[in-house]
Amino acid sequence: MKFISIQEAIKKGSGKVALHGWIYRERGSNKIKFIILRDSSNIIQCVLSKEKFEKEWKEIDKLQIESSVEIFGTIKKDKRAPTGYEVQVEKINIIGLSNEFPIQKDLNEELLGDRRHLWLRSQKMTAILKIRSTVTGALHEYFREKDFYEFQSPIIIPGGAEEGPTMFEVNYFGKKMYLAQTWQLYAEAAMYALEKVYCIAPSFRAEKSKTSRHLTEYWHTEMEVAWSNLDEIMDYAEEMIKYVLKKVLKKNKKELEILKRDIKKLEPSLKKSFPRITYDKALKILKEKKKMNVKWGKDLRTIEEEKLMEIYDTPVFVTHYPKEEMAFYKPRDTKNPKTARCFDMLGPEGNGELIGGSERDTNIEELKKSLKAKGEKLDDYSYYFEIHSYGAIPHGGYGLGTERLIKWICGLDTIKDAIAFPRTMSRMKP
Ligand code: 4AD
Ligand code: MG
Repeated sequence: MKFISIQEAIKKGSGKVALHGWIYRERGSNKIKFIILRDSSNIIQCVLSKEKFEKEWKEIDKLQIESSVEIFGTIKKDKRAPTGYEVQVEKINIIGLSNEFPIQKDLNEELLGDRRHLWLRSQKMTAILKIRSTVTGALHEYFREKDFYEFQSPIIIPGGAEEGPTMFEVNYFGKKMYLAQTWQLYAEAAMYALEKVYCIAPSFRAEKSKTSRHLTEYWHTEMEVAWSNLDEIMDYAEEMIKYVLKKVLKKNKKELEILKRDIKKLEPSLKKSFPRITYDKALKILKEKKKMNVKWGKDLRTIEEEKLMEIYDTPVFVTHYPKEEMAFYKPRDTKNPKTARCFDMLGPEGNGELIGGSERDTNIEELKKSLKAKGEKLDDYSYYFEIHSYGAIPHGGYGLGTERLIKWICGLDTIKDAIAFPRTMSRMKP
């Protein structure tokens, strides 16, 4: 008999089934044993009576959580069973025995982190990993449907881009190199050939901040598009988020239920368009509605972003941040020269910055001025100046923190649960 998944067996609903999986829970008396079997698709209650398994009872009685088994039997509806169906077991093969499983319900976050390699088997982590797979799949689909080319850049780089102090150094045959924080500068080179490019790849930030939103290694979804302006770039960002949300709400209802996610909180983002406000307007709102005074010229802090977002039930674009605070490649706005033509997309429910993006400066003198002001060595950027010296065009792009999006969609307390094996300042193992 061919093995089918638990979900397929439930769909079948009656008759003979062959299942294989792991013991998720077990209980019993000296007459009967209940096994909740799990596989990647679902869980199901299986019943074994001592009468039928007289000879094997000693073995069966010893079975512990996470032992792997093959089960042959008859499935039928049973309201009392956890997923509404039960299998009367006729034959069982024990495949892999299990030691006493070291994870109980009440372990704290640190201990669960130490045992992450086993904790992945939990219903919670399994649900998150399935949603994560939908999210990354949908991101690829979105860009490919929009005729973007997937383009990859090096991870080991000579330097530059976002912020020097948050770069990890690599000892590269005795020379100092760094782990990339962004694919952007290489993507701009490729943009002149392919026009529309995207990538989902790891980025690295030596962030000392221990927050619920920072990883040191995260999956960065980036795009760069030729002949585009700020509004068009934001259009892509909004459409992309809606595309992903729609896919998850369609494909992962069950997983969102396991996570007890209130999907009413996600629905407005599908239906409404995301507000676009300037930094100046954001400061005004903070002052008038939240009694917070922010000095003009500073980037918004987490607390300010959170207070601002209390007013909205969808992501919001904040545009035109103070130029001097921004990365060197974000161009000055000619109408409002103290600001840059850039945006952050802030997430609702206290999720902070999901996306950062901008038009790109192609004025080489301006670029040099900004780099000098940040104390960067111009020599390191000579290739970047050259990129924009041959037929420069208006263009721009953005980067999405993929785990921040997953954290929001799943309603997680910490970004660490949005990735299987998180890396933070204090979490390096397993
Ligand atoms: O705002 P950032 O630094 O922008 C860039 O790197 C641009 N070069 C992207 C581009 O235009 N191609 O980072 C982009 C996004 C942030 O909005 C945030 O969501 C995420 O990357 N991010 C992090 N996610 C998790 N942990 C961290 N330490 C992160 N740092 C940034
Ligand atoms: Mg940013």
